[in-house]
Amino acid sequence: MIVVTGASGQIGRALVEQLDRWGAPRRAFVRQHRHGTELGGDYVVGDLDDPDSIRRVLVPGARLLLNGSLGPEFVTQQRRLVDLAAEVGVAHVVKVSVRGATPGGLLGLGMHGEVETHLRNSGLAWSILQPVGFMQNLLTEVTFDGDGQGRFHGSYGPGRVGYIDARDVAAVAAALLTRPVGENETLVLTGSEAPTHEEIGEVLTRTLGRPVRYVDLAVPAMAERLRSAGVPAAAADDLATLMRLVGDGRWASTTSAVRDLTGRPPRTLADFVAGHADLFR
Ligand SMILES: NC(=O)c1ccc[n+]([C@@H]2O[C@H](COP(=O)([O-])OP(=O)(O)OC[C@H]3O[C@@H](n4cnc5c(N)ncnc54)[C@H](OP(=O)(O)O)[C@@H]3O)[C@@H](O)[C@H]2O)c1
Repeated sequence: MIVVTGASGQIGRALVEQLDRWGAPRRAFVRQHRHGTELGGDYVVGDLDDPDSIRRVLVPGARLLLNGSLGPEFVTQQRRLVDLAAEVGVAHVVKVSVRGATPGGLLGLGMHGEVETHLRNSGLAWSILQPVGFMQNLLTEVTFDGDGQGRFHGSYGPGRVGYIDARDVAAVAAALLTRPVGENETLVLTGSEAPTHEEIGEVLTRTLGRPVRYVDLAVPAMAERLRSAGVPAAAADDLATLMRLVGDGRWASTTSAVRDLTGRPPRTLADFVAGHADLFR
């Protein structure tokens, strides 16, 4: 049995669809019945804050996708899930993390870093997926003015990022969760190319047939922009700082992990944009 947490999210949904195509037994963990019925098949309604509901979804020998949303309870939720998985006798945990995760790091880097350490010390068999940024982020980042000009903002400077399609993170998880449990390993997941943000603007412009421009902002200006969009002040500062850090090239190199695990190359940015053209407004 493959238990999928975060099953209603971007990675979870794609993973469940892939497992269903393969006919692999899976159980989705969802917060809302409607998400369970949308996914179809076996599901359990619960919450990562509710240990009893986690006990209802886990079974001895299960393989587990550990995923959820970053937030104040994230580390507690994920550490607890790891502890319960060990208690129940789960056979293998695949954790969605982030490239460069390290305890004490900014935002998600630090939160994932803490959970990674906990998982590595849990006695469970594990695979840790460390993707870079998702192409799907562009769907909310790109905005169009009344005059049809598209823009997206960041503090990356000329830094290159090997953005990955979240569905490829799911494809790697599907491969890992359906093959015999192997050695514990950490896999850095990227797309096959690492464009600058200006080049991403060019891909968007070409593929959507509408002008889209990347606007680079100094960290304080980016933080202010995030605050005006409703991001809490401290998180806005950290997020803008993180963009500047990423811009130093630390997410610029690409890896062959998606191809190695799935037998096919990662989805390209142009394919992603073309496939989601109607969602860019
Ligand atoms: N976005 C990026 O660029 C990026 C890059 C690298 C790594 N990551 C990592 O990727 C992960 C997010 O993956 P994703 O994009 O697939 O997530 P997502 O689409 O945001 O979905 C999050 C999932 O977690 C579920 N969830 C949240 N809180 C929960 C709770 N208390 N109990 C049960 N379920 C809960 C959500 O359920 P509901 O539908 O009920 O809300 C949803 O299914 C994060 O750990 C993030 O750090 C993201």
